[in-house]
Amino acid sequence: MLGNFSYCNPTRLYFGEDALNNLSVELGKYGDNILLVYGKNSIKKIGLYEQVISILKSCGKNIFELPNVMPNPTVEKLYEGCKIAKDNNIDLILSVGGGSCCDYSKALSVSAWCEEDPWEKYYIRMEDVDNKIIPVGCILTMVGTGSEMNGGAVITNHKAKLKIGHVFGDNVFPKFSIMNPKWTYSLPKYQMIAGIYDTLNHITEQYFSNNDDCTSDYIMEGLMKSLIHSSKIAINEPENYEARSNIMWTSTWALNTLVSKGKSTDWMVHMIGQSIGAYTDATHGMTLSAISIPYYRYICNYGLEKFKRFAINVWDINPNEKSDEDIAMEGLLAMENWMKQLGLVMNITELGVTEDMIQDIANSTFILDGGYKKLASEDIVKILKESM
Ligand code: NZQ
Ligand code: ZN
Repeated sequence: MLGNFSYCNPTRLYFGEDALNNLSVELGKYGDNILLVYGKNSIKKIGLYEQVISILKSCGKNIFELPNVMPNPTVEKLYEGCKIAKDNNIDLILSVGGGSCCDYSKALSVSAWCEEDPWEKYYIRMEDVDNKIIPVGCILTMVGTGSEMNGGAVITNHKAKLKIGHVFGDNVFPKFSIMNPKWTYSLPKYQMIAGIYDTLNHITEQYFSNNDDCTSDYIMEGLMKSLIHSSKIAINEPENYEARSNIMWTSTWALNTLVSKGKSTDWMVHMIGQSIGAYTDATHGMTLSAISIPYYRYICNYGLEKFKRFAINVWDINPNEKSDEDIAMEGLLAMENWMKQLGLVMNITELGVTEDMIQDIANSTFILDGGYKKLASEDIVKILKESM
């Protein structure tokens, strides 16, 4: 492990079939005004809305509701929430839903009492929070983002054609997250596999950086093996509790800041994916799956040792009598086959990207330099074209 770092994760997790029983204990730690943040219908369909309302009532809370948080939450929705949270002097924001609800709740928690435009402050100027933060609790029903145990809060501004994530510090992490794998049974297959791929890609974004011997890489290989194994079961048996619970737990650890320790981290698949998202509003995990294979093939030779290790340790490729390039490429082929087996979107055309959008998507992509190759705009154009 090279480098100096600190590690702290203040989110308390409650995991398992009985996890919701712990909500009332957590509610006891906060004031009476609770803002319930949720999406469209899914939490009502699975009966979770009723259960949460009944617990809130039994704890004597004043309930304010903020429904219709959309996938890829928008800046306009953020402004709407700021008014509700401030006017009602909210003590706790309780997010019930997927990563979009949880991200939105964190963005709201730092924006409600912000005296400037939060989009300008947090997403354009990337400033830290210097105002009151409303605590957030999360009840998670969709797996993939890791939002339940991190400080990420991605907001989309359709007018500016920008989708930007601000990774806030541990003062913005959810105070607690409640996770019952059974809530994920009702996810449509499209969302389930998008979440599985989001998880895998969070790991590879961190794994494909640096060349030193680092404990984080060994942890990530274990997480990837578990995820691949359980995904193959869950795709055929969506109600297999063991598989769904392993996927849920892996997803949390993929992006709760632990495995990034000692790593510079890449994140270029996410940067390109977010730019695609800003133009198409496509499902986050699918924006990543569509460009991953072209991206990794493009950069493979710049990080050959790690791609070879990935092939052998994660995809069980037999290295005997093969060149390093062949081993690395076989690993990527195995990954591509697994992605196709799950049914992921493998090209950007399917997400609504047309030829005339390519240059704009490349121009709006934030370029980072923690991975094996720093991309130029022309590289991004080539990768996007490869995914058409
Ligand atoms: O609106 P409802 O009815 O709840 O439906 C949702 C939504 O349509 C549905 N859903 C959720 N739980 C369900 C369910 N349907 C049936 N049964 C259930 N149990 O699923 C759809 C997608 O939900 P969403 O919350 O949008 O998905 P996800 O968890 O993938 O979140 C995506 C957002 O997270 C951001 C993405 O950019 C995107 O905006 N990310 C956040 C990150 C972070 N905080 O660190 C990192 C990620 O890389 C990602 O960027
Ligand atoms: Zn992601």
